[in-house]
Amino acid sequence: MEVNNQKSHFVYDKLNQDIEQLPSKILVVDDDISLRKGLARLLEAEGYRTIEAENGREAIGLVSSGKTDLILLDLMMPEVNGIEVCTLLKSNEETRLIPIIMITAVHEQEEKLKAIHAGVDDFLNKPINIAELRARVKSLLKMKRLNDLLDYSDTVVASLANAIESKDKYTEGHNERVSRFAVELAKVAGLNDKEQEMVRMAGILHDIGKIGIPDNILNKPGALTDDEFTIIKSHPQHGEKILKPLHSLHGVRDVVLYHHERFDGKGYPYGLKGEQIPIYARIVAIADSYDAMTTKRPYRNAYTQNEAIKELETKAGQWWDPELIRLFVDSVLLT
Ligand SMILES: [Fe+2]
Ligand SMILES: [Fe+2]
Repeated sequence: MEVNNQKSHFVYDKLNQDIEQLPSKILVVDDDISLRKGLARLLEAEGYRTIEAENGREAIGLVSSGKTDLILLDLMMPEVNGIEVCTLLKSNEETRLIPIIMITAVHEQEEKLKAIHAGVDDFLNKPINIAELRARVKSLLKMKRLNDLLDYSDTVVASLANAIESKDKYTEGHNERVSRFAVELAKVAGLNDKEQEMVRMAGILHDIGKIGIPDNILNKPGALTDDEFTIIKSHPQHGEKILKPLHSLHGVRDVVLYHHERFDGKGYPYGLKGEQIPIYARIVAIADSYDAMTTKRPYRNAYTQNEAIKELETKAGQWWDPELIRLFVDSVLLT
C-alpha cells in the first residue's frame, strides 16, 4: 500500500514541479528583429524563458518540437502570417490549448476580426504597453496551467484505471461499464454536466483501492474467509487514501469511499444511511451492482437483464436508493 501512496505523491510532486516551479516558456514571433529581441528581453527580466522565431514557418517548427506555454505572435509577417499560424495551431489537438496573444497595429482592424475567427486568445496593440503585456501574459499563463492540470488528471485517471483492471482479472471492462451506466443514471436524475463528469471519473476509479488488496485474496476462486472479506472491505478506504493528493479529484474521492454504503445503513465502511450517502455514491453503487450481476463470475453465471432488474427492485430501499432504482430501470435499462 505504502508504495502506491508514495507513487501518487511522486506524481503529484512532479506535477507541481512541472507547472509551478519551472518558468513558463514563451515563444516570441516577429520578423522585426528589434521588436522581437526587445520583447524577449523584457519577458526574461520577468523570469520567463523565451524562444524566438522570425517568421511563421519557424514558429510552427518550434512549437511542434518542444513544449510551449504561450505565444506572442506578430500579425503581419512575410510568407506564413500570424493568422495562418494561429489557424494551424488552434486546429491541431496537440497545440490548440497554447494561448496566443496577437500583436497588431491600430490600422489592422479588419485583420483582427480574422484573427478572432482563427481562435486567437488576446491582442496587444503596437506600440506595446508594458503593463498590459505583463497582465495579459500572466492571466493567460494561469489559464494554461489550469488546462495542463485538468489534462494531467485525466492521464492519471486513465493509468490508475488500467492498474486496477490488470490486477483484478475477473472484472475486465467493469470500470468502463460502471462509468457509462452511472453517467446515464446521473443524466436522467437531472445532474449537470460537471456532476456527470465527476460521476464518470468516479465510475472508472471506484475500485482503485483494490490495488492495495493482495492478489491471492482478490482473485480467489472459492469462498472468502471472514478475515479475507474484512481485507476486501478495506478497499474504499485504500482508494480514498490513494486519491487524497490529487486535489482536482476531491468529489471523486467521496464516491470511492462511500460506494459500498447501503441505503438502509448496513453497508461499509461507515454504515451511512439514505441521503447521508452522497447522491454520486448512490448512483455509482447502483451501476456497480448492476454490472457485477450481469457479468459472469467464477462462482456463478451472469444474470439476465430481467433477473438483474428483479433483484434491483426487490432490494430497492435496502441496498439502494429506491427513487434512483426506479429511474435506472425505467429510463436507463428499459429504453
Ligand atoms: Fe468496490
Ligand atoms: Fe466495482
